Amino acid sequence: MSAIKEYIQFNLPGIESCLSETVAGLNPLVKPVATHILEAGGKRLRPMLCLLTARALGYEGKDIYPLAAALELIHSATLLHDDILDQAEMRRGKTTAHIVFGVNEAILAGDALLAVANRIVTEYESLPLVRCISQAIYWTAVGEIQEIQQLKEPSLTVEKYMEIVVGKTGYLLQTCCQSGAIMSGSLQEQVEAAKTFGLNLGIAFQLVDDALDYSVSHLNTGKPKGGDLREGKLTLPLILFLQGMSREKRDDLLKKIKGKGLDPFEQQWVLEEMERKGLSRKTRDESNKYLQAAARSLNRFPDTRERDLLYEVLEYIKDRED
Ligand code: FPP
Ligand code: MG
Repeated sequence: MSAIKEYIQFNLPGIESCLSETVAGLNPLVKPVATHILEAGGKRLRPMLCLLTARALGYEGKDIYPLAAALELIHSATLLHDDILDQAEMRRGKTTAHIVFGVNEAILAGDALLAVANRIVTEYESLPLVRCISQAIYWTAVGEIQEIQQLKEPSLTVEKYMEIVVGKTGYLLQTCCQSGAIMSGSLQEQVEAAKTFGLNLGIAFQLVDDALDYSVSHLNTGKPKGGDLREGKLTLPLILFLQGMSREKRDDLLKKIKGKGLDPFEQQWVLEEMERKGLSRKTRDESNKYLQAAARSLNRFPDTRERDLLYEVLEYIKDRED
């Protein structure tokens, strides 16, 4: 077994027991929705990043698990809300919470999870920690609003797309590493290195996610292939595809995507053309640039076992297929 898998296996029970304890204390109306999303088998990447960064920078205490779990609760809240906004029917191979429990229930359960996460964070009595977590929640919400705004626009530039990626995914992953660094009591210079590491890793993670949407079936991700295309979401693979078309054809296709949507034959054609042009691969190549930038930030960390494991996390993202 790889060192990172072993590390995760060893630390997962601590995180899971914090999550179960939190869920057990929830109001009975919120509990089933929280259980649904938390038991769907997420990768727990965010808590692990928090743990690894804290320890890589010298944190030796035992009370990091609640903070790590709080980051997973925030992530779960964003997913509950995101699936409503995207009208998604499946996540992680399960019917989404808003379909099982109702839209209002899923919205409010997401709000409750956010509040509980914040309460956990206040227990550390650290203003820098509270500040960095609240900023991440704010930026994530703004990133999502920007994405929704863009859905109404006829086209999207790569620059604007990158801004959305930073907002909706980058900042929360940045915060996982930043909060770990804050817990370690490191100097500002190392907190900055942790932030840059997390941000670049987060951007790369989302780019791979967007590439996977066009490259694998639901058997791996638990989400149907081409979902972004059906949702009219312009992500990097589709932006690259549109850039390779004549203006006339591009405008025509965009009008359909943004209008009533493509029919199944048109969808199939776009998916096949994108595969033929290797646009998923190109998106992953772009993601590798951010993984390299993340690795450069890690070089500024002290030489520890956890730093080596963080390099492994970068490798995992590079090769990720689900
Ligand atoms: C997934 O993107 C969505 C996010 C990473 C962020 C969602 C954020 C919100 C809904 C704003 C609400 C904010 C808070 C803090 C509750 P995606 O749809 O591209 O990925 P997917 O394929 O996994 O759905
Ligand atoms: Mg979504």
